[in-house]
Amino acid sequence: MVDVVVAGHICLDLIPVIPPKRGGGAPLLLPGTLTEVGPAVLSTGGAVSNTGLALHRLGIPTRLVAKIGEDLFGRAILDLLSKRDSSLASGMIVAPGETSSYTVVVSPPNTDRLFLHCPGANNTFKAADITEDQLRGARLFHFGYPPIMRRMWEREGSELREIFLRANKLGLTTSLDMVKPDPDSDAGRAPWRQLLANVLPFVDVFLPSFEEILYMLDRRRFDSLVGEAGPVSIFSGVDTGLLAELATELLEMGVSVVGLKLGDSGLYLKTTKAEERWQHFGASCPSNLQDWRGRELFTPCFRVNVVGTTGAGDCTIAGFLAALLKGMTASASLIRAVAVGACNVEQADATSGIPDWGVVEERLQQGWPRLEPLVRTTPGWTWDEDSGVWNSEKDGI
Ligand SMILES: Nc1ncnc2c1ncn2[C@@H]1O[C@H](COP(=O)(O)OP(=O)(O)OP(=O)(O)O)[C@@H](O)[C@H]1O
Ligand SMILES: [Mg+2]
Repeated sequence: MVDVVVAGHICLDLIPVIPPKRGGGAPLLLPGTLTEVGPAVLSTGGAVSNTGLALHRLGIPTRLVAKIGEDLFGRAILDLLSKRDSSLASGMIVAPGETSSYTVVVSPPNTDRLFLHCPGANNTFKAADITEDQLRGARLFHFGYPPIMRRMWEREGSELREIFLRANKLGLTTSLDMVKPDPDSDAGRAPWRQLLANVLPFVDVFLPSFEEILYMLDRRRFDSLVGEAGPVSIFSGVDTGLLAELATELLEMGVSVVGLKLGDSGLYLKTTKAEERWQHFGASCPSNLQDWRGRELFTPCFRVNVVGTTGAGDCTIAGFLAALLKGMTASASLIRAVAVGACNVEQADATSGIPDWGVVEERLQQGWPRLEPLVRTTPGWTWDEDSGVWNSEKDGI
C-alpha cells in the first residue's frame, strides 16, 4: 500500500565528469575534435525520479509510474531505482519497441551547462498508461512535466485531463508540476492557457515555478521581464501583487491550492475560499480547513551552502505534499516545502540531500536563518515571527 503515486516524466541522466582545461583549451563540442573526459555519473532524472524519490526519502510510501523502453538505458533506470528500494521499480511501464528517455548533461567547470535530451517513451505516455489499479488506495496523485511529454500537451491536454479526472474520481487529491517548454519547439507554441483551463478543474494542488507559469499565462510580460532582467535576477522586478494576479487566474480556472516557486526568493501560496471546491479536495484534505481556506502566504528560503539546484523545485514540492499528507497547517506546509528545497541545494544531484522527515523537523527546531528575498511584499502584508511566514490581510477569492 502506498500513500502517493508520482507519475509522468523519467529519464536517464548521463553526466561525464569534465576536467578543467589546462591553459583554456578549445571549446567543447567543436566538430572534428576529441575531448577526453572522466567517468560518467549515471542517475535517474525527471519529475517521477526527483519528486518521487524525495518523497520516498522523507519516509512517505510512494509508487513511481513512468514509461521506459525495453533497452539498455531502461534497464539502467530500473536498476538505479531498485537499488534505492526494491519496490520502487515495480510500477514502471516497460514498453517493447520504444526508446528510453535520456539526457546527456555537458557541464564543464565554470561554464553554463548544456543538455542533449531525448524524450523517448515520455512522448508516447498516454492516459491509458495510468490505470485505476495503480491509483487505488493512494491518498495523493502527483504528475510532472507535461510540457516535455508530447501526448500530454497535444490536443489542448485532453489526455492529461483524462488522467486527472480518473485520479479525481477515485478520490485522490491531485497535484501537478510543469517545466518551461522550449519556446522554439511545438510544445513552446502550444495553447497553454487553454490546456490549463481544461485540466485545472481536476487539479487540487498546482505548484509551478513563477517563470514557467508566467510564460504560459502572459507571454508578453514574460518576454519583457526576462529580457529586461539581463544578468540580474528576474525576481528583482517582481512583487506579491503580480504573484496574486497569476495565482488568482489559476484559482479561477478551478485549482484549490496554488504555490509559485520563486527560485532563491522562496515560495508563494494562495488558496481558494470556495467551500464547494474544498469538498472535492480528495483524500488528503486538511481537517483544519479553516486554516487553509482563502489564505495568501509567502515565505523566504532557508540559508544553506548552495552546491547545486538540480531538482530543487521538485524537492520543494515533495516537502509541501509530505506536510499536507501529515495534516499540517498551510504555513507549516509552506515552511516544510522550502526546508526540503534547501536540503536539496546542499548537494549537487537531485535527491541525495533529502534526509528523513525527522531530520528536517530537527533542523527547523534548531532555528534556521533565512535568505533575504528579492520579491517585494506590497502594502497589507505582515511578517509573522512565530510561523516564519508573511501573511496577506486581503480577502481571498
Ligand atoms: N539558493 C537557494 N537556497 C535555498 N533554497 C533554494 C535556493 N534556490 C532554490 N531553492 C528552493 O528551491 C525552490 C526552487 O524554485 P524554482 O523557482 O527554481 O523552481 P523550479 O524552476 O521548478 O526548479 P527546478 O529547476 O528544480 O524544477 C525554491 O522555491 C526554494 O524552495
Ligand atoms: Mg521545476
